[in-house]
Amino acid sequence: MCGIVAYIGKKQAYPIILKGLKRLEYRGYDSAGIALLDAENSINLYKRQGKVSNLEEFAADKDLFGHLGIGHTRWATHGAPNDVNAHPHMSMDGSIALIHNGIIENYDSLKKELIKQGYIFQSETDTEVLVHLTDHISKKENVWFGEALRLALSHVVGAYAIVAMSKDYPKRIVAARKSSPLVIGVGTEGDFFLASDATPIVEYTKKVVYLDDEEIAIIDLDEGLKLYNIADQEKTPFFQELEMELEALEKGGYEHFMIKEIHEQPRSIHDCFRGRLNAEEGWVSLGGVRDYEQKMIQANRLIIVACGTSWHAGLVGEYLIEDLARINVEVEYASEFRYRNPIINENDVVIAISQSGETADTMAALELAKSKGATILGICNVVGSSISRITDAGSYTHAGPEIGVASTKAFTAQVTVLTLMALSLAKKKGTISETKFRTLLAELEAIPEKVKTVLETSDHIEKIAAEYKDASNALYLGRGSSFPVALEGALKLKEISYIHAEGYPAAEMKHGPIALIDEEMPVFVIATQGTSYEKVVSNIQEVKARKGKIIAVVTEGDVSVKEMADHVIEIPECDEQLVPLLATIPFQLLSYHIAVMRGCNVDQPRNLAKSVTVE
Ligand code: G6P
Repeated sequence: MCGIVAYIGKKQAYPIILKGLKRLEYRGYDSAGIALLDAENSINLYKRQGKVSNLEEFAADKDLFGHLGIGHTRWATHGAPNDVNAHPHMSMDGSIALIHNGIIENYDSLKKELIKQGYIFQSETDTEVLVHLTDHISKKENVWFGEALRLALSHVVGAYAIVAMSKDYPKRIVAARKSSPLVIGVGTEGDFFLASDATPIVEYTKKVVYLDDEEIAIIDLDEGLKLYNIADQEKTPFFQELEMELEALEKGGYEHFMIKEIHEQPRSIHDCFRGRLNAEEGWVSLGGVRDYEQKMIQANRLIIVACGTSWHAGLVGEYLIEDLARINVEVEYASEFRYRNPIINENDVVIAISQSGETADTMAALELAKSKGATILGICNVVGSSISRITDAGSYTHAGPEIGVASTKAFTAQVTVLTLMALSLAKKKGTISETKFRTLLAELEAIPEKVKTVLETSDHIEKIAAEYKDASNALYLGRGSSFPVALEGALKLKEISYIHAEGYPAAEMKHGPIALIDEEMPVFVIATQGTSYEKVVSNIQEVKARKGKIIAVVTEGDVSVKEMADHVIEIPECDEQLVPLLATIPFQLLSYHIAVMRGCNVDQPRNLAKSVTVE
């Protein structure tokens, strides 16, 4: 939610910030803005509602000179998405400019106080409070703007990543963080790059520092980078080397990031299990959580907390871990878990699943669990993300950067990690036979090739998409671990094509959704070979009896469903436990093709953001 980019150094700041904002647009695209310190040490401010490209067009004929600048792309929380509410926000005398990602919860009382002091607010944002408060403290206490910002933050309740600049300090930039991410890149020419994640930084430098909660960074071109805590005690920066490659951030010939990421799945799944399993030698090992496996086996229960697509992956994990390792698993929406006073203690293990590693609700759920003494683990994609840093241990999914707002390769990588986890726990606990263990390992190793085969059906799926692109509703059905796949299929369609869709356990359909079925209603069913096959076939017949349209994902060579369904999409044969990894791909492709045909913005669907750092 909201992307932040800033630069200070010898280069021109504008092109760096603009390019960075485009990389961060997945975090929000309601408005964009840039503040640049010009040759006369005045701040030029350019802001535009809508996408970064609107800002680019608007700024094209303006003075874009500046070696110091800050930029922002917004996902609106307080105040409509318009030019005025766009960041940066400026102090009334034009001396300080500031950008912010997060929410200032007590902004209303602070605002009232500042109005009493004579401050006039231009925008409806909570952020403007920060800039006026900093200015007020700076004048009242006669301190420079960085110190004033530090003091201001002690009055603030909420979450923030902030970057501020002042026309009176042309060699300085100040940043602070609490709950919202911020990375500082240390350039090779004595310059510095700041951003919400490393993607705007990676092409200039790989040496970075991730700010911790309640840390303030003061960057001075002469004195370098210094870190302080909110109490003004100096801290030692921990420099890290980025592992990200630039090519991963570009479309590589594809029309959209989403379709590129769908096609990356054979590789991303492989990268996810590489070095973690060997079918021939018969072992599996998730190094990051190995030391906690005994704890997981002995735990009261494993509680998976997550949001959105990651929650769906969690459900697949529940089926796998309970079935293979016979450990009690619960899957919770992080946003519900954190507020419902859950019973939790030191015998529980809480596992957060998060692509970004920044989702505010998931973070808060973990913090709550930690405060009750539970062990907290993470399954994240973004290396160095907040969740990966606050957890006791964890496993990365290694899917590489996911830019499309609708999650695809991150989901299959999460399911892969959970499969490895289930297998490892089952082996350790002795709840799986050696034959079954080895079969599943070999099957998992074969999944990337099978995903390739599913991807080859894209043209066939595109034809099906053409037939249903104008539907107003759709139903997705599955049983067992294909039920979460149905939920995920429905979510993908909603997210990017704006067609109302619901995922249901196939047998539950007769308790409600069946009333919706008529000849207009496409029903997408996972009807692959396995324990529930016959039952699903009956559910298909129930739909057909009411003239619904059936589009079924079936196992290669299927005969029965083919006779009943309007369309079938075949996936290669695989063990029932691994079906989610294959069955989810046709639904990703289907949503993609439908969204393209409907002229929707596939990579940046309306109202959504990839990383939800507000609750
Ligand atoms: C947002 C994204 C979803 C994602 C969810 C959880 O809503 O649009 O694609 O599944 O957040 O994000 P996380 O990064 O925690 O997996």
